[in-house]
Amino acid sequence: MTMGSEPVPQHIAIIMDGNGRWAKQRHQPRFMGHRAGVKAVENIVKHCAELGVGVLSLFAFSSENWRRPSKEVSLLMELFALSLKQQAKRLHKNNIRLQIIGDISKFSDSLQKQIAQAQQLTTNNTGLIINIAANYGGRWDITQAVQKVAEQVASGDLQAEDITEDMIGAELTTASIVEPDLFIRTGGEERVSNFMLWQMAYTEFYFSKTLWPDFDSEQLDNAISSFNDRERRFGKTSEQIQQDS
Ligand code: IPE
Ligand code: IPE
Ligand code: MG
Repeated sequence: MTMGSEPVPQHIAIIMDGNGRWAKQRHQPRFMGHRAGVKAVENIVKHCAELGVGVLSLFAFSSENWRRPSKEVSLLMELFALSLKQQAKRLHKNNIRLQIIGDISKFSDSLQKQIAQAQQLTTNNTGLIINIAANYGGRWDITQAVQKVAEQVASGDLQAEDITEDMIGAELTTASIVEPDLFIRTGGEERVSNFMLWQMAYTEFYFSKTLWPDFDSEQLDNAISSFNDRERRFGKTSEQIQQDS
């Protein structure tokens, strides 16, 4: 797909950071920042669909975010449930497929049910795929994949020395999806915070100082432009890449 004359990354993965600071700047409780963050999600989803991005992965709640004050955690859960309820139909109408990746067994029964319903509703849609990473950790993802491969070894179907990278990749929560081309983190921190560790081996990184609630389509376009200026070499030399293109 192209943006004007520019190609668009197939898979964009975003750490939506800075909601708390956004609220603090306005002398509001952190929760108001999370609410404003949901609005920003709506805009970015719309823009990605228009641009023809294939997959948008959004880090919504990390496996480490349980360490926050319990009040903030429970408000985040409520906001997640509310957003699912409000958005599922709209996503479906726009041919968007919603997937939740992460250990959802730690969520309440009603939230798990809602997640299942939203995924079910949109499962046959053929447009943009949205991965919401909730109670997600890159190490958790790799660990659960390795456990599945280990089961095949334990049952005698596989020899340990025959385990390949592809076999592990096939058990990750993102198995059927291309790896992220572009990773964006808003909010000014420059770290991966246990996001898609395996999947981002060759992803291009883009850091923005903008706090997530202020991240808009123009800024996404800037990130994509920066991505398009990079030369992805995957270990080869620049000369080889230029010959191939
Ligand atoms: C990101 O914003 C949203 C979640 C982690 C749920 P933060 O809540 O981390 O915002 P800051 O980093 O405190 O500003
Ligand atoms: C990462 O943001 C997780 C999400 C955006 C959901 P954090 O704000 O929790 O990350 P750290 O703790 O600053 O690394
Ligand atoms: Mg943060």
